[in-house]
Formats: sequence, C-alpha cells, structure tokens
Amino acid sequence: MFSQYKWNMEIINDIFNDAVEWAKVAGSIQLKYFRSNDLGIETKTSVHDVVTKVDKECEEYLIGKINEKYPDHGILGEESGEHINSSDFQWVIDPLDGTNNYSQGLPLFCVSIGIKYKDEAVVGVVYTPYVNEMFTAIKGKGAYLNGAPIKIGNKSKLNESVLATGFPYDKDVNPDNNVDNVASLIPLIRGLRRMGAAAYDLCCVAAGFLDAYWEFNLQPWDVCAGELIVKEAGGEIIPFRNDRNIGIVAGNNNLCRQIYMRLHNKNM
Ligand code: IPD
Ligand code: CA
Ligand code: CA
Repeated sequence: MFSQYKWNMEIINDIFNDAVEWAKVAGSIQLKYFRSNDLGIETKTSVHDVVTKVDKECEEYLIGKINEKYPDHGILGEESGEHINSSDFQWVIDPLDGTNNYSQGLPLFCVSIGIKYKDEAVVGVVYTPYVNEMFTAIKGKGAYLNGAPIKIGNKSKLNESVLATGFPYDKDVNPDNNVDNVASLIPLIRGLRRMGAAAYDLCCVAAGFLDAYWEFNLQPWDVCAGELIVKEAGGEIIPFRNDRNIGIVAGNNNLCRQIYMRLHNKNM
C-alpha cells in the first residue's frame, strides 16, 4: 500500500519542519538581492513573464536540501520541471512567486512549498519574507500564520467583499485574458486587488484578509501549498474551468458559489 514511507505524523512533522526552515532560508536569499541591481532579469514565455537569478538560486537551494534529506522524494519545481523518483511524496515548489513584483522592487513576493502524498497535498508552506509572514498547514491540522490559527472570512455579500485576481502572461495575444470576468464582477464588489503572487493571494483568503480570489492559467506550483492552506482554514477551492491549466475560485462556501456562478455563466 505504501512505498517507502508510511503517511504518518512523524514523517509529516519532519517534512513540515524542514519545509518551514528551508522556506525561511529561501526568503533570506530573496531579501539579500531585493531592490539591488544584481537580479539577472530574463524573460520566459513572453515579455510579461520574467525570471531572475534569484528564482533559480532559491530553487537550486530547495532542491539541494530535499535531495540531501529525502533522496527518494519526487520534486516538481517551476524552474527545473519534474524530478521523478520512487517515493509517493512529491515536493511542489514555486521558488519565487510574484517575480514581477520582485523585479520591480515591490514587496509582495513569496516562496511556496507544497508536499503531496499520493497526489494529495498534505503540507503547505508559503513564506513572504519582506512582510515576514509564514503561512502553514498540515492536512487535518488547521492553517496558521506565524504560528497563530487562521480562519476564512465569513462575509456573504459580494458588495461588502474585497477580491483578488490575476491575468495570464499571454494576455496581449489571447483575448481570453480575464478582463471580461473583471468587467462582470467589478460592479458587484467592494474592491478588487491584483496582488501579483498567487500563493500569497490564496493565503490572504485563508486568513480573511481577502474575501475571495479567482484566477485561471495557474500552474501546480502556484496553488499546491495555498490551496491546502485555504481548505485547512475552512475555505473552499472550486475549479471553474479546466481548459486553461488550473482555474479556481477560493473563499468561503457562500462567496465562492456566487462568484463561480458569475464566472461559470460566462466561461462554460
Ligand atoms: C505568477 C504570479 C501571478 C499570477 C501568475 C503566476 P510567478 O507567478 O503568481 O500573481 O497571476 O499566473 O504565474 O511567475 O511570479 O511565479
Ligand atoms: Ca508562481
Ligand atoms: Ca515563480
């Protein structure tokens, strides 16, 4: 039934503690270069999609640590792809989420580490070093911000709610770029934010700092940790389309459903 490890709390606690410690070190690497002229900025899929040498250094650091301590664990890292291995554990890593913010000198960026067991997220760690916020969750054990429990917001009215979203990197060449969804929702809500880091958006929803969030064309490393943190904080993740990679609505049950209906009617 199990490969090399049992899904037991001892191994999960070890993994959790390591993920927290390594996220802090990755965060310190990010802070070391932040607002410097030494970022090595390049573009990836489009001119809007940037990567820095810090993204790569953080991923190399994390992969080195995982390989050293858990040599049979699989890894999916944004910058280096999939490292297949024999264990049922897989580390899903966004070494620097919010690279556009980071490269501009804007302070909302984070490292996101999700750990899956048999394809199900069991540990989530998102660390936002500039604001020193460590969001964590272990499956079945609740969600935390800097060690204190967090809970999803309880608003039920869209007109009192502040939402966040994001836009795909091909927004210039593909008219399916979320602008229609924004136009549809903006008259109904109190406010909309484009924070620029999907993992942090999800954590802010988990803590009730944002009431809900939606985005599509996301990747596993954007959402693996954050989705678990939202669920463990009592929130919901509803997939709203599956034709542009990962598309989700996150929030409490009531708001999620209202937003889903609005988006679904337009997209399906
Ligand atoms: C991006 C950010 C952004 C979201 C994009 C992501 P990156 O991740 O999370 O908020 O809108 O879809 O790709 O490239 O900064 O790791
Ligand atoms: Ca990302
Ligand atoms: Ca990234």
